[in-house]
Amino acid sequence: MYAIRRIVTSNVTKDQFSRLKYTLPELPYDYKALEPIICAEIMELHHCKHHAAYVNNLNVAEEKMKEAIAKCDVNAQIALGPAIKFNGGGHLNHSIFWANLSPCGGKPDSALVKQIEKDFCSMEEMKKRLSESTVAIQGSGWGWLGYDKTSKCLRITTCSNQDPLQATTGLIPLFGQRERQLNILLHCRATEHYCLIVKYRDSFY
Ligand SMILES: [Fe+2]
Repeated sequence: MYAIRRIVTSNVTKDQFSRLKYTLPELPYDYKALEPIICAEIMELHHCKHHAAYVNNLNVAEEKMKEAIAKCDVNAQIALGPAIKFNGGGHLNHSIFWANLSPCGGKPDSALVKQIEKDFCSMEEMKKRLSESTVAIQGSGWGWLGYDKTSKCLRITTCSNQDPLQATTGLIPLFGQRERQLNILLHCRATEHYCLIVKYRDSFY
C-alpha cells in the first residue's frame, strides 16, 4: 500500500482566501479498494465521519478567528489556537494518510530509496524504526518519516494527538502512521483478529 505522492498547494489570491472553506478531499480510490486489509465500512466511517468532523470544526474555528481578528480580540484569538491546531492537524494528517495508501501497492521512487538507505542503512531498518517509534507513543499520536531541509536528511519522529508534523517540528511529512489503540483496533476490525494488527501495519509498506 505504500505510495508517496506530491502534495500540491495551489496559489490562492487574497480575495479567494476570504471566501475559502476547507473541504473533505475525495479519496483517489473506492472505500472497498483496500479490502481485506481495511474494510469499506471502516474506510467510509473514517473518511466521512472522522475526517469530515476535523474539516467542519476547522471551518467553524476559522470563522470565529476571522471575527476575533475583526474585533481585535486577542484573547479570543489565543483561545482559538488549540482548536485550529487540533482540527487543522487532523485535516492535514488525514489528507496525507489517504494519499499514502494505494490499492495498487507501489514503491518509493529511486531518489527516496537512496536517501532512506543513506540515512537508515536499509529500507527494512527504516520500517522497523518507524514502527517501533509509532508503537511507543503513549496515548494518541502519529509516527512520521519526515525530511529535514536543513540537514537534508530523513528523520523519524512522533507527534502527539493531531499535532501536524511540519508546523510543530519543521520536518516535511512524507509518510505517517496513526497510533492509538482504539483507532488501530477500529482500523483492523475488518480482520476481526487482533494479531492481524501487525499485518495491517506491515501492509503500509
Ligand atoms: Fe484517523
